Amino acid sequence: MERIEIASTPPIESAIASLRARPRRLRLQAALRRMVRETQLTANDLIYPLFVRPGRESRPVPSMPGVRQLSIEDLLREAEAALRLGIPAVLLFGIPEHKDPFGSESYAEEGIIQRALRALKRTFPELVVITDLCFCEYTDHGHCGLLDERGQLDNDATLRLLAQQALSHARAGADVLAPSGMLDGMVAVIRAALDEAGYTHIPILSYAVKYASAFYGPFRQAAESAPAFGDRRTHQMDPANAEEALREVALDLEQGADMVMVKPAGPYLDVIRRIKDRFPVPLAAYQVSGEYAMLKAAALQGWLEERTAVSEALLAIKRAGADMIITYYAREALEKGWLAG
Ligand code: PBG
Repeated sequence: MERIEIASTPPIESAIASLRARPRRLRLQAALRRMVRETQLTANDLIYPLFVRPGRESRPVPSMPGVRQLSIEDLLREAEAALRLGIPAVLLFGIPEHKDPFGSESYAEEGIIQRALRALKRTFPELVVITDLCFCEYTDHGHCGLLDERGQLDNDATLRLLAQQALSHARAGADVLAPSGMLDGMVAVIRAALDEAGYTHIPILSYAVKYASAFYGPFRQAAESAPAFGDRRTHQMDPANAEEALREVALDLEQGADMVMVKPAGPYLDVIRRIKDRFPVPLAAYQVSGEYAMLKAAALQGWLEERTAVSEALLAIKRAGADMIITYYAREALEKGWLAG
């Protein structure tokens, strides 16, 4: 290497001579970097969200390249691949055949989720199957429950119907129920319904802290669940609030939640950390459709290196305090060895 003459001064020389701490020492070798790594990602950290639809044909979701609405047959294939990679759990969303004002397919014995659950549990009893409990995919108006005469979400009427939905998922074999509607009292009502029917062993993973986020956009295309009018700001949280997130978690734990979730993940790392510091319960974070779509789109354009960008994004979520990460990248990241570091 060629050398150049660099001018210096006594203060500069003395600053260099008195340097003691040299953090770079621990970064100079790959193996040493591995030894001092504070956060590791493994398959055990991941939950794989999957969409299931009626019929024999799977359909791609244009806003989420690589993600499909799956036929039950293809769902079984995805689940098998997930198990082979060591992913412990999937999170199921259903796209119903018919929508109506009550979302009645969400609690029908022959509903898409119920059929998918029975098929999954029959074929892969060891896989943890989590179901999203909500009405927005099932109602013709796209809102997360029953509407009153003013067109507003009727919280307490929806709770009664949510109890029915919870029981029908439990009967069909769900291992964990994940209510995502941000209704007041949803955990208490689901717990009561499950316990009364003898399902005391089924845990609740509450979407306790779910923000009214623009990052759900691509999901609404995937799940065909965009609201026909209005938005979800009367039940989902204001992105400006973090103190309120602590109150939401406290309430859901009081009502009997076994695990809680923050959603989205990447834009809310501070919220994940504050909850982790305060509440000693398993914490999940959902890297949502918009976070996936941003990474995918930039990667497809050649603007980001997907491998490193995805592992960095997931690592950040775990470092912030998440014990579990729900991510559409679960299969691809493991299959392609992106998390190995
Ligand atoms: C509600 C639900 C939504 C998501 C998960 N559960 C959509 C919403 O609240 O509008 C979003 C997940 C994602 O964006 O990946 N059933």
